[in-house]
Amino acid sequence: MPPNAALKPAKGWTPVDAQTLLQEISEYCRRTGMAESTFGRLSVNDGKFVNRLRYGGRITTDTLARVRTYIASHPGRGGGNGARPVILPPVPRTPVSRIESRVPTLQPVANAAPPASPERNFRFFDNRQKYLLFVNTCSEKWVVAQRVGLELANLHPRPPAVRVFDAGMGDGTVLTRVMRAMHQRFPAMPFYITGKEISLEDVRLTLEKMPDRFFEHPATVMVITNLYYSEAPWLVPNSVTAASSLVWREVPLSGNTARDFEEQVTGLQPFLAENWRAHVSPKSGNPVYERPVVLILYREDHRFLLDSVIPRPGATRADYDLVMASQPYRARAPLDFKARRVVAPLARALGPGGRLLGIHSHGNDPGLEVIQKIWPGEDPFQHDRHALLKAVKAELGNAGRDLNFNAYADGRSLFRYDMHTLPNEISNAIGTSTLFAAWNAAVYVAQIEDARLESVISDRKYLEATREVLMKHGGLWFWDESYVISRRRD
Ligand SMILES: C[S@@+](CC[C@H](N)C(=O)[O-])C[C@H]1O[C@@H](n2cnc3c(N)ncnc32)[C@H](O)[C@@H]1O
Repeated sequence: MPPNAALKPAKGWTPVDAQTLLQEISEYCRRTGMAESTFGRLSVNDGKFVNRLRYGGRITTDTLARVRTYIASHPGRGGGNGARPVILPPVPRTPVSRIESRVPTLQPVANAAPPASPERNFRFFDNRQKYLLFVNTCSEKWVVAQRVGLELANLHPRPPAVRVFDAGMGDGTVLTRVMRAMHQRFPAMPFYITGKEISLEDVRLTLEKMPDRFFEHPATVMVITNLYYSEAPWLVPNSVTAASSLVWREVPLSGNTARDFEEQVTGLQPFLAENWRAHVSPKSGNPVYERPVVLILYREDHRFLLDSVIPRPGATRADYDLVMASQPYRARAPLDFKARRVVAPLARALGPGGRLLGIHSHGNDPGLEVIQKIWPGEDPFQHDRHALLKAVKAELGNAGRDLNFNAYADGRSLFRYDMHTLPNEISNAIGTSTLFAAWNAAVYVAQIEDARLESVISDRKYLEATREVLMKHGGLWFWDESYVISRRRD
C-alpha cells in the first residue's frame, strides 16, 4: 500500500473521530511502550500514519477498522482491549508547603524506584540515543556554552543574586559549563538558577553534574522544574487544578564536600522516578507533565546567606538576568508555535537589563549536504532568526516595547561546531564507527524521524554518502545561529 493510502478522506469521518482515534493510539502506545512510528507500520504498514493523522490527515473506514482490529488483537503487556483508558491508582503527593527534607544517603536506586509501569514511563524522546551520541561526538554543547559565556560580560545583576534561566537543560552539558564561567566572572555573588526539563533522564544527567558546582560555588540556589515555558520562569502553573497538585520540594544539602552532595543527589532518585512523569498529548503531540514539580537545591550551610534568594510558594518572581534557549524548539515546528509558545514567554521573563540568548540550527553546511544526498531538496531549517524575531515582536505587541530584538549580522550571529575527529581519521579508509557517528550527527541535527530513517538504512548508500562528504570537506561541521532579545535597563 502506498504510504498515503491510509489517509484518504472517509465518508462520515470528522476531526472529532480523528482526535478519539489518536487518543486510543496514544494510550495503546503508552501502555505497551511502542513508538508511534512502529504502531503505524505494524497496524497499517505506514510509519508516518500517526503523525499525518495528528496534522489533519483523514482516514478511510477500512483503515479505521484495521487500526482498531490491531489494538484489540494485540493487547500488549497492559492487557485489556486497547481502546479503554488505563486507570491508575492514585499516588500520594507531597503537599504544597515549604518542605525541608534531608534526603537519605546512598539509597540503592534499583530498589528504591517504584516498579516501572509502561504507560507512565513512556519514553517520548525517540531520538534519545541519537542525542546522547551527538552530544558526545560533536562540539556543539561546548561552543554553545562559550557563546552563552560571552553574554555574561553584558549582564548587570542586581542583589541579591545573578538570575539565570535555562529553557531546556537537556543533559546539562551547556548549563554546567555556563555555571563554571559564571563562577569565574561572579565568584562572590549568589546564583539563582532555574532549569526547565520535562525528561526524567535529562534531569538525572544534569543533577549528576551538579555536586562539583555546589562545591566550587556554595552560594547557589538551583531550581529544577518540569513546568511549561509559560509557567517555569515564574514557578507557577497556569491552571488552578495543576497549581493545587504542585509538588514543591526543597532540599538543603548537608555536608561540605562534592561527595556529600553527590550522595544526597543520588538519594533523590526515588523522588524523581515517582514525580517526574510525562506522557504525550494526543492532541498536540507535545510532552505533558503528569504533575507539576519544583525541586530546589542549595547548601544547608549557606541557607542564612541565601534566605532572600530561595523561592517560596506564592512568592516567586522571574526577572532573569540571562535566559538561555539552546535548541528549544523543533526545527519544523510552525513559526507561530516557536514565537508564541516558546520565545515570547521567555522574553516576558526577563528582568531590567536581562538578555535572552536563542540558538538554533542554521544549515548550509556539510551536515545538510549528507542529508540532501539521501533526501534531495530536504530543508528542515525553514525559519531563520530574522523571521523568528519578527514573529516574536508581533506576538508580544505592547509587552515588547522595552525590548530590543537583535538578529545581528551573520559574522556575529553564526557559529560553527565540528564532529570531533582525530588528525588521521579522515583518510581513504574512514572507520565504520566514524561514519556512523557522522551520519548520526547529520540526521540528528536535521531532526529526521525514525520512520523515515528505516527505509534508507537497509543498504549502505547512506554510509557512502557520509563518506563522500567527509572526504570532500576533510571532516564534518554544522552552523548554528544565535539572536538576543534584551530588556532595557530602566
Ligand atoms: C530542550 S532541547 C535542548 C536541550 C539543551 N538546551 C541542549 O542544547 O542540549 C532538547 C531537545 O532538543 C533537540 N536538540 C538538542 N540539540 C539539538 C541540535 N543541535 N540539533 C537539533 N536538535 C537538537 C533534541 O531533540 C533534544 O531532545
